[in-house]
Amino acid sequence: MYLDNMPKPFGKMVYRCIGCGRSYDIHNFIYTCPSCKSLLRIENKEFDKLKQKTGSQWTQVFDARIKPKEYKLMGIFRFHELILPIIPIEDIIYLGEGNTPVVEANDELSTWVGCKFFVKMEGLNPSASFKDRGMASAISYLNHVIRVKDLDNVLGICASTGDTSAAAALYMSYLPKSKVKSVVLLPEGKVTPQQLSQPLGSGAIVIELPGVFDDCMEIVEELANDYNVFLLNSKNPVRIQGQKTYAYEVAQQLDWDLSDLVVVVPVGNAGNITAIMEGFVDLYELGIVDELPAILAVQSYHADPVVKWMETGKYQPMSVKPSVAQAAMIGDPVSFPKVARLVAEHFSDRFHAIAVTEDEIMEGMLMANRHGHVVCTQGGESIAGLKKALKQGIIKASARFVVNSTSHQLKFASFQQMYFDNRFDPEYEINPKDSFKNSPIRMEAKASVIADFLGLQRK
Ligand code: F0G
Repeated sequence: MYLDNMPKPFGKMVYRCIGCGRSYDIHNFIYTCPSCKSLLRIENKEFDKLKQKTGSQWTQVFDARIKPKEYKLMGIFRFHELILPIIPIEDIIYLGEGNTPVVEANDELSTWVGCKFFVKMEGLNPSASFKDRGMASAISYLNHVIRVKDLDNVLGICASTGDTSAAAALYMSYLPKSKVKSVVLLPEGKVTPQQLSQPLGSGAIVIELPGVFDDCMEIVEELANDYNVFLLNSKNPVRIQGQKTYAYEVAQQLDWDLSDLVVVVPVGNAGNITAIMEGFVDLYELGIVDELPAILAVQSYHADPVVKWMETGKYQPMSVKPSVAQAAMIGDPVSFPKVARLVAEHFSDRFHAIAVTEDEIMEGMLMANRHGHVVCTQGGESIAGLKKALKQGIIKASARFVVNSTSHQLKFASFQQMYFDNRFDPEYEINPKDSFKNSPIRMEAKASVIADFLGLQRK
């Protein structure tokens, strides 16, 4: 990781009572002063040693760790030259996207999966999915063009399985209402309640259509062809420009060393995997990295046209079946031709694809979240794909892995609840395991009853 300013353990920290002023060892679990029962605060007895550095020396230390310069460049636009260099900084729309952490799987989770790996937490973007990267570039571009051409009444529209619409509505809502209107098309009943609440909360016009995502996509493509609208799906390449920053960030977080790296990506409409591969190719062609990583594409058996293409050599759109990886439940990915080209030209010896079951997806999600992560069902799909690919010998455990958790656990909490309640329709083909279930326990509001239940020892 890119920290050239490593902090070292220093100081002597104690609890200090705000009442009687006594101090206590910080290694004990205490919450009020054992002597006078007042509240405690934490004090570094060697705080004054920090004054050996001047204020400006401290700012250098902290700045070197985060490097803020222009605040709009703190997100995806720190890669300005590689995404949309025609856009002046004042036109950039920055809502806090990008710079998502990579979190190392702990030992228990690594053992369950079969290798050490990092999860890149794309759910920590402002609308809680990776879509904010592409939306930041698309809306910055739109903002720029509106200014340069003095446009009014631009209608931004997208079809979505939930997350694109959340991101589009959020970023559009930042632009002046006199200039833009925001519309999203959703397949009725096929986005989670949390995802539906997002564009509604951002004030977009939300249109629900019968059918699945592919049906909505067809309509939006027709609207984009025949009417004056601004398309906010990843078919619009200005979206892909921003989404490429996922690759740039992974490379930066690994200190630009991509040796032995496998990047694991769940695939739906295939915009994301396209952007990620294009991003790595940019870095390679500029000599920023010495090699390309391998890519592992993961899909549910219920929507796996890309896996079938890899297995048979033939691409065939398919009808999807219900999947808990609902955001990726797409039978005819719009960006498939770009994937095929990228694989042929750059990744032919390093592109793998694997299908996983619905049970495996749920278990991947639940296991990750029981071990410190906040992954969505698509993140669970990625983890399940990694586990399976290792088991099948498609990839080696000695490689390095970055797994894409494309959105936040909370967006897909309804699937978690359906699992706990064993409430899936049979078409999902999910058999919940008791060991993964959890539910709240109602109890009398009495400390002794709870202590008995938990088997606590008195102090
Ligand atoms: N993960 C999440 C959370 C998604 O929302 C999507 C796609 C994917 C993975 C798959 O990425 O489509 O680029 O291959 N969601 C789109 C949407 C289709 O409308 O929100 P992809």
